[in-house]
Amino acid sequence: MCDNFSTNSHLNIIMRNMRVVFITFIFVLVTISMIVPKTVEATRAFFVFGDSLVDNGNNNYLPTTARADSPPYGVDYMPTRRPSGRFSNGFNLPDLIGQHIGLSEPTLPYLSNELTGQKLLVGANFASAGIGILNDTGIQFVEILRMFQQFSMFEQYKERLSGEVGEVEASRIVNGALVLITLGGNDFVNNYFLTPFSPRSRQFNVPQFCTYIISHYQNILMRLFELGARRVLVTGAGPLGCVPAQLATRSLNGECVNEIQQAAQFFNQLLFQLIKDLNTQLGSDVFIVADAYQMNMNFITNPQSFGFVTSKIACCGQGRFNGVGLCTALSNLCPNRDVYAFWDPFHPTQRALEFIVRDIFNGTSEFMSPMNLSTIMAMDTSI
Ligand SMILES: *[C@@H]1O[C@H](CO)[C@@H](O)[C@H](O)[C@H]1NC(C)=O
Ligand SMILES: *[C@@H]1O[C@H](CO)[C@@H](O)[C@H](O)[C@H]1NC(C)=O
Ligand SMILES: *[C@@H]1O[C@H](CO)[C@@H](O)[C@H](O)[C@H]1NC(C)=O
Repeated sequence: MCDNFSTNSHLNIIMRNMRVVFITFIFVLVTISMIVPKTVEATRAFFVFGDSLVDNGNNNYLPTTARADSPPYGVDYMPTRRPSGRFSNGFNLPDLIGQHIGLSEPTLPYLSNELTGQKLLVGANFASAGIGILNDTGIQFVEILRMFQQFSMFEQYKERLSGEVGEVEASRIVNGALVLITLGGNDFVNNYFLTPFSPRSRQFNVPQFCTYIISHYQNILMRLFELGARRVLVTGAGPLGCVPAQLATRSLNGECVNEIQQAAQFFNQLLFQLIKDLNTQLGSDVFIVADAYQMNMNFITNPQSFGFVTSKIACCGQGRFNGVGLCTALSNLCPNRDVYAFWDPFHPTQRALEFIVRDIFNGTSEFMSPMNLSTIMAMDTSI
């Protein structure tokens, strides 16, 4: 009896303990599965380099005319509906990409004084409107952050990040980050084609100029790799000859300007080959290239099927195609930005950018090479 009792109570205790262990185990599993995916997503930093298509406010802090910090810029920017320095009616390209990779807030401009402490861990935006691959691009905008300056700010950033989390963790954050670079458009519209006899157009014909700037783009991309970038989304040149600013000054009947279109396409051909070569040389798909030209041409040639009433007239501007001069408080402003492809004489609306971002994430290899961003994100989280 006595023996039996003690065996039973032993068994009871063991079973109770096992139940406790089991329940604890399940609890821990559930907790881990709740925490881990969020932490993984939240700790992937996002860095942005380039021009006005991706600047989210650095130029607000600089003495330059290339700025978007007054109304009606930001008229649809939620929740404030205030201008922020983004060259868009609402969100810009990095905002939309950031939202889809799970960032809870937009990456801050590097020059913002809010970018301190823990906020450094999620990345920073170094882009500056008006710049190009070449240092002589955008000289009319005076003080803007050219690529070598964006890179020296990035080095400064890495030191501040190391101060915050230590050198090992800082390298891990930079190596694990997604990087976006948008560059090259201004080398055409704000340099080579800026005036009929620009210094660069007297120096080079179009193919020579493309070859020349691509060789400098190669140095820029390799510098980014040296600085620790391991996943870099590179956007090719858009259809620069179709923007309202070009239609206003160089197009007779609203057709895209052929010479500029061909230059953008030739630049892209060289860029795609360069990306292929760099990845082969590095033995890894560090660089992914988005065919921004084709993505934009979809809605430029067929605006109605994307819900746009026009792809030629800018929402905000004046003169032919609302493409003359800048978008200011005195300009024409369309009531519904969602039915326009172009926001101002140079930049797409948020709505148009949403279509581009859809192609970046989910597009076929026709648009994204060597693969789309959804595939990249899935690969990177399973490491
Ligand atoms: C731009 O200027 C910087 C600093 O002088 C220089 O290091 C860099 O090579 C220049 N870039 C080009 C494309 O000429
Ligand atoms: C890509 O496709 C997935 C699955 O259909 C969808 O959940 C996601 O929102 C898409 N991403 C974009 C940016 O459209
Ligand atoms: C791009 O993304 C989607 C997932 O959202 C995938 O189904 C598709 O196969 C991808 N396309 C290519 C060509 O990688």
